[in-house]
Amino acid sequence: MGIPRASSLLLSFLSLVLLPTPSTANDNNILLTGDVLRPDCQLSYLDASFTMRSDCDLVLYAQSNPVFSSSTYDEGAFNCSAVLNQYGQIIISDPLTGRVLWVSGDPGPQGKYAAVLKPDGNLGIYGPPIWSTLPVITEGEDTPVGEVNSVKAPLKNTLFSTEILEENDKLTTRDYTLAMDDSCSLNLHRGSEQYLWVSGTAGLGAHCFLRLNRLGQLTIKDDKYKTLWSTAPSSQGEGEYVLILQYNGQAAVYGPMFWAADADDADITRIASSPKSQPIYPQPMPSQPMSPQPTPSQPMSPQPMPSQPMPPQSMPSMTMNF
Ligand SMILES: *[C@@H]1O[C@H](CO)[C@@H](O)[C@H](O)[C@H]1NC(C)=O
Repeated sequence: MGIPRASSLLLSFLSLVLLPTPSTANDNNILLTGDVLRPDCQLSYLDASFTMRSDCDLVLYAQSNPVFSSSTYDEGAFNCSAVLNQYGQIIISDPLTGRVLWVSGDPGPQGKYAAVLKPDGNLGIYGPPIWSTLPVITEGEDTPVGEVNSVKAPLKNTLFSTEILEENDKLTTRDYTLAMDDSCSLNLHRGSEQYLWVSGTAGLGAHCFLRLNRLGQLTIKDDKYKTLWSTAPSSQGEGEYVLILQYNGQAAVYGPMFWAADADDADITRIASSPKSQPIYPQPMPSQPMSPQPTPSQPMSPQPMPSQPMPPQSMPSMTMNF
């Protein structure tokens, strides 16, 4: 009697020890164009993670279970990075040869994109911004990337289509805040003093809220549903858009979503049918997850891609002005 009990205790103890620690150290849930996910690094949000494994497989995990994979673990490459390029594609390439192992999907028009690990545990890539606040001029000061790790997860830095930012609610990242004040003002500030952008609606209504619709349009309405401020709808029509408060202090609406890695995706069959002769999907690396590294140059400038970008196939080049 005593022995089975002891061993089951030992087992539960072992399972506690062997479980991957939830990534509280890393709340990074967003890759912007030019950002690189280095080997053994991941995006994470609550118990979901999107991990660039050192065996070159890019895997979406839900509670440590793989739900999507690039299936590039057997290409003979190691220590690959994944980069989000200016055509909205995540690209995995072999660091030794530069060979492209995997591309997430077809190219979109040239621009800045955002890959977001969403609160529902899926990852979506969203099209170039249709609205944004001005870039934040940091006057030569470079926010160290490591700072991100000191912020506690989960960070509320996104607002998706049909979601509402209520009165006194806010999005935050680093020391930036986009707040829907009880004065009816939507404002972006750094620290408690430095106002970077305001909607100009202060005092115009009571109990106001901000909503992002399925046309990518931001609207501030008061308690009587009177519209006080609004951005233009996207010319690309209905879809899922996302307002992101970016780590560089800029708020931008990206979309529509045009690629998704999610649990309902057909790629899960590729996971199920992958060879079983080797342990293909061990747990995420127990080592400290690292934050994705933004390229060292200015945050919002077009980034030279370390790998060859996939040329857009007969896409008219579009100029986005922000
Ligand atoms: C991958 O990177 C790690 C850490 O830098 C290194 O120890 C290892 O040798 C690399 N693996 C290969 C196959 O290059």
